[in-house]
Amino acid sequence: MEKYPGKKKIAIFISGRGSNLKSLIKSSKRKNSLFKIILVISNNLDAPGLKYATKSKIKKFGIRYKSRSYFESQSIKILKRYKIDLLCLAGFMKILSGSFIKKFSKPILNIHPSLLPKYKGLNTHLRAIKNKDKFAGASVHKVNQRLDSGKIILQKKIKILKKDNIKSLKRKVLVIEHEIYPKAIVKFLTNL
Ligand code: GAR
Repeated sequence: MEKYPGKKKIAIFISGRGSNLKSLIKSSKRKNSLFKIILVISNNLDAPGLKYATKSKIKKFGIRYKSRSYFESQSIKILKRYKIDLLCLAGFMKILSGSFIKKFSKPILNIHPSLLPKYKGLNTHLRAIKNKDKFAGASVHKVNQRLDSGKIILQKKIKILKKDNIKSLKRKVLVIEHEIYPKAIVKFLTNL
């Protein structure tokens, strides 16, 4: 018997604070949610985000990043054991190998704090401000072998104001991240 009939089983990878994880947990608890968060894996054993998993009674695993292959082989075993349908990266600051993506064989989504394809990688807000961009934003995309380059599922933009600095922009973008990640998952799952 299916334990969560009709719901897709999601695993989340994090590395730090976990505010996106928190927003996904909140959304998964809504009555008609299409997904259930089964487990959280962090490469950082001290990630503050792990406490949200504990609070919400979600299984959590800290896997030391001794090497990429060690982390990935341990994670794959867990993902397969729990028959995960979709992996969501939420502030996961490591790059997954092509072989992991292939072996896992289920879709992987990521949230990135920029209007992709602009500003792949790090320091997105600094780069947007330096370039005097009018807009910043966040993107949820499918993960493929190239960094921040998979198909975009959902994006939202906000205006960069004259008074904005990196800190204020980060804060504003984070608010829309929390809004679009759950929506993007629903969009993705209903278009499978
Ligand atoms: C978020 O802004 C997320 O978009 C970013 O890290 C932050 C994690 O915050 N991810 C990346 O930069 C991935 N390349 P959170 O831990 O509070 O969700």
